[in-house]
Amino acid sequence: MNEPKTTCASPELSDQIPPHPAGLDYIFRNWGVLNREQRIRLTEQVAEIDFDRIRALHQATDGPTSEVADLGKASAPGRLIPRDIRRDNPGEFATAREIGWQALREGRVAIILVAGGEGSRLGFPHPKGQFPIGPVSGKSLYQMLVEQALAMSRRSGKVIPYYVMTSDSTHEETMAFFRVHSFFGYDAANLHFFSQGKMPAVDQRTGNVIMSAHDRIAFAPDGHGGLLNAMRTARLFDDLRSRNIETIFYHQVDNPLVRVCDPAFLGFHQIHRAEVSTKVVSKEEPDEKVGLLVEMEDRHRIIEYSDLPADLAAQRDASGQLKLRCGNIAVHLFNVDFLERMAEQDLPFHRSSKSVAFVNDSGEVVQSTENNAFKFEKFIFDILPHAQRPVAMEVVREHEFVPLKNSHGDHSPDHVRQSLMRLHTRWMQQAGWTTEESLPVEIPASVALDETDFIAHCGQTSRSNPPPAE
Ligand code: UTP
Repeated sequence: MNEPKTTCASPELSDQIPPHPAGLDYIFRNWGVLNREQRIRLTEQVAEIDFDRIRALHQATDGPTSEVADLGKASAPGRLIPRDIRRDNPGEFATAREIGWQALREGRVAIILVAGGEGSRLGFPHPKGQFPIGPVSGKSLYQMLVEQALAMSRRSGKVIPYYVMTSDSTHEETMAFFRVHSFFGYDAANLHFFSQGKMPAVDQRTGNVIMSAHDRIAFAPDGHGGLLNAMRTARLFDDLRSRNIETIFYHQVDNPLVRVCDPAFLGFHQIHRAEVSTKVVSKEEPDEKVGLLVEMEDRHRIIEYSDLPADLAAQRDASGQLKLRCGNIAVHLFNVDFLERMAEQDLPFHRSSKSVAFVNDSGEVVQSTENNAFKFEKFIFDILPHAQRPVAMEVVREHEFVPLKNSHGDHSPDHVRQSLMRLHTRWMQQAGWTTEESLPVEIPASVALDETDFIAHCGQTSRSNPPPAE
């Protein structure tokens, strides 16, 4: 929770229910059957919650949405690096790339991975980052991401500090997983784990916090926007400053195709003196469920697909493409100064309707078959409208974006593995190798980071030119 208000007296361990604000009797209704440890736990949990705020969030009619005031004014981002820039303007692309490499070589870039989500749609009983996604290697998402960072760090000759945000739901297991795998070869001194805040789930009808056991309140992580508070609490800004870091590469745990610290992206960010840059993919169909990056009054903002009126979603420009088509893939660059400024502000909470298990009077845990609860989350993209000179860079979806979200169908493990194999098979074919479409293919980050890289190091004509030493 953010700046929790202490609303309950210090732990009272007698049979007497401790003093508490009016309206919270239901939380203590099983006090008599709790042992000492359970009483302490419950009292501490209550003290962490700002009940006035929870009440206000529950009562807010639709919950705060994307702060989109007047969608009619939304247009495609002005500073948009086009998808085919590498082919159409190789000089400009090469310049940006070199500027990005320079920032990496000078150690001015760090990485933040947000990995605090509960991954409920996937239904994997561990942190999502531990999911074995490598189609041939069975490597976890964590390993695939860290290996990219490692490859970038080795090629630039400079350490890239890596910060991993976890939550109560993922912290312990994530730490143990990294330890058991020797941090996947990353220098442990440059790998930092910090935990985000949490919010209680509340009953949709009553606004009461949901009890997951007689002595436990059902908490959930406070959203990826909880990053800012978490960074402040963990004093990460001091650490970033002491390392002279200027730019953060932000990414999520579920997309193994993400191009960690893409030098061209870094370069354009710097050329435009942007405070925030965002990678986007082209949205093809009006009803596609992807958040849109738009520009309004020279500022960027994300419109959630649920907030986009159907007529606006369907508007097309003269070329026949959707007018608003920049799908947000949650890959950003943030200037450290900007993030620090934003960490002083309070981002709004968004309310979402979920099914949350609760304990009944007999002490049984019941999983609701319907959405019985509201969860409250902050979204990192709510900081975008505050950023000056924002930049968007369009990339090819099949090359850079296939998030693991669901247990079946779209964005399921099968879908993600197939997409990875298709991409790597293509790299091999472009490099002049014949491959059987049906054979599983996976190219590790230590060998190549993208198609051009693969062709340069492993192409048929460059067999004497091995991949850079790792
Ligand atoms: P999602 O919004 O897809 O949520 O997170 P999720 O938790 O992974 O999955 P569901 O919705 O429960 O099925 C996108 C990214 O934001 C991180 C996730 O770990 C993922 O990298 N995240 C999300 C956090 O770090 N903290 C949060 O509170 C929520």
